[in-house]
Amino acid sequence: MAAFLDVEKVSKTYGRGGGVVAALDDLSLQVAEGGIFGLLGPNGAGKSTLLRVVLGLVHPDKGSFRLFGKSLREAPGVLRSVGGLIETTRLYPFLTGEETLSVLAGYAGVSCPGPERRALLARVGLEEAAGRRVGGYSLGMKQRLGIASTLIGHPRAVVLDEPTNGMDPVGIVEMRDLFRDLAERDGVTVMLSSHMLDEVQRVCDHVAILHRGRLAASGAVAELIGGDHLLLDIRPVEEACRLIGDAARPQPDGRIKVSITRDEAPRLLSRLTAAGLELYEAKWQGRDLERYFVGLVEEGGDDR
Ligand SMILES: Nc1ncnc2c1ncn2[C@@H]1O[C@H](COP(=O)(O)OP(=O)(O)O)[C@@H](O)[C@H]1O
Ligand SMILES: [Mg+2]
Repeated sequence: MAAFLDVEKVSKTYGRGGGVVAALDDLSLQVAEGGIFGLLGPNGAGKSTLLRVVLGLVHPDKGSFRLFGKSLREAPGVLRSVGGLIETTRLYPFLTGEETLSVLAGYAGVSCPGPERRALLARVGLEEAAGRRVGGYSLGMKQRLGIASTLIGHPRAVVLDEPTNGMDPVGIVEMRDLFRDLAERDGVTVMLSSHMLDEVQRVCDHVAILHRGRLAASGAVAELIGGDHLLLDIRPVEEACRLIGDAARPQPDGRIKVSITRDEAPRLLSRLTAAGLELYEAKWQGRDLERYFVGLVEEGGDDR
């Protein structure tokens, strides 16, 4: 499948003289089409800058990027197939939610008739607030309206900067479902940034971790979390180790650490119990993204 995004050696520096900040430092990154891609990093890592670059809002000092295989110079129209939300959309407090979509569609030169506007608002849970003035919306509602606005004109991809900012836990779960639905049902590529690890871990298929404008790691969430093993409390230990073979590592506490994949687990467990061993406990122990992420950030030294 074609790449949604291909970033090649992009650098972007802000400021001058002693106050220079390299927001992006020779960054290369690919995002495949389809699925949900998470851009993860602590505050100041360069996430918003990268998304601004990708949406053509900031010009990189160096490097290039392509959207669906095309540079903006070759094909500026490619931006029409990408919806973008950077920070909260500038909203007019005196317009209603529905009027806002109408105005934003007008700016984009796209038609978004009434039924479609209402369908978009329903999709982000703003059905009842459609006719209310945006000035009275909560931050979370404004954020939802912003997300709805990125869907105007049926984009092939949406780029969302910290989309769940300001939302309550229920709202976050709803947005998570919406992102999955967009990716799975509508085939829209979703690229979102977040400084919240568990958010990315829960919703994204692939992730890139940014740290000080550089790529600290990238890959499938399942791979980055990787290093899973099954921890068994089983007796007798020696007999279990013999049956499991090389994958077994006895622990000082008497348990056994087994390096296998999830798919292999049911067969191994039934083999062990069928052999008459007594299984008291079996649980997965993984290296979650959080520990991985914190480790990376600590390796990188202090924050600037
Ligand atoms: N318009 C700007 N002017 C000066 N510095 C900026 C500007 N935008 C971002 N920066 C700096 O660039 C770095 C990266 O910022 P940003 O891309 O907003 O990171 P993130 O979104 O990951 O928090 C930070 O050090 C930030 O202070
Ligand atoms: Mg940001």
